[in-house]
Amino acid sequence: MKSFGYLLSTLLLAVILVSCNNKPKIGFLMDTLNIERWEKDKELFEKRVEELGGIPLVRIADGNSPKQLEQTMELIYDHVDVLVVIPVDLHASRDIVREAHKKDIPVISYDRMIRDSDVDYYVSTDNINIGELQAEYLSTMAPNGKFALLGGPTKDNNAALLHLGWMNVLQPLIEKGDIEIVVDESVENWNSEEAYEIIDNYLSNDNPELDAIIAGNDELAGGAIRALQEHNLQREVLVAGQDAEVEAIRNIVAGYQTITIFKPIDAMAYTAVNMAMKLAEEEGPINTNITVNNGHKLVPSVLLSAQVVNRQNIKMTVVSEGYVKEEEIYQ
Ligand code: GAL
Repeated sequence: MKSFGYLLSTLLLAVILVSCNNKPKIGFLMDTLNIERWEKDKELFEKRVEELGGIPLVRIADGNSPKQLEQTMELIYDHVDVLVVIPVDLHASRDIVREAHKKDIPVISYDRMIRDSDVDYYVSTDNINIGELQAEYLSTMAPNGKFALLGGPTKDNNAALLHLGWMNVLQPLIEKGDIEIVVDESVENWNSEEAYEIIDNYLSNDNPELDAIIAGNDELAGGAIRALQEHNLQREVLVAGQDAEVEAIRNIVAGYQTITIFKPIDAMAYTAVNMAMKLAEEEGPINTNITVNNGHKLVPSVLLSAQVVNRQNIKMTVVSEGYVKEEEIYQ
């Protein structure tokens, strides 16, 4: 009897092991968790992989590109089926694709493009459009303004796309002589302290004139707002950010920030995971809605749309979609 029970439990264990072994492993190589939005991407990603019967394997590179390549090798060694990557560095991440492809592992570029590589798919929000939305909003409010541009790091492809979007809107206004760019800087590592210093330096000049600040994300917008506060200029200067961070929404309510951009992170995470699971289970076809040139090829992509969040539509956007809770904003 005892030996029958033993046999049964060994069999059960074997079944469990086999079924675990059959579950697709989806790797998620993330740049950082230092910025609020990425916590949400991570949570949604893991939840969706588990819902679809896969195993999520998440690694955080802490902004370190060689570390991200080491983590790639670890996941390849772990027999991951698909890699979803938020590249730390738009160029160095080519090696991630190269190593994965050696083992026939497909790679999906997530939020940020891996440039000049044979990456298989790209899932993101239309970043040029995000830049246009920010610049349109602020240039409508300050049609004859002096503008400061605080861009993201040069190693992040999105920073370049945002800048392109800003200039699509601002260039004709500059040429007409209506708008002047008084600051145009790249902030390394999306560092809010550096954004603070850039704006503080500018405002420390004799007679600085400033009407609007377009920032690559809410971290940079937050740094800029601190500088404005020190010079007693909060509420005098328009500020645009991106990511719909709780602090940014609070700043909008307080009148210190004009807008932020709300990206559909839930839809992005779901799209990437659905794609990854199909690839892992070889269950095509993979749906895409556009191709994006990454310098090497036209990458089949899904690009989603972002929304502007201003003081008036907070409830209709971030709150109604469950992205931010009202208690968090008005605590
Ligand atoms: C960008 C991303 C932004 C922001 C930033 C900082 O690539 O598009 O939403 O979060 O990284 O990590």
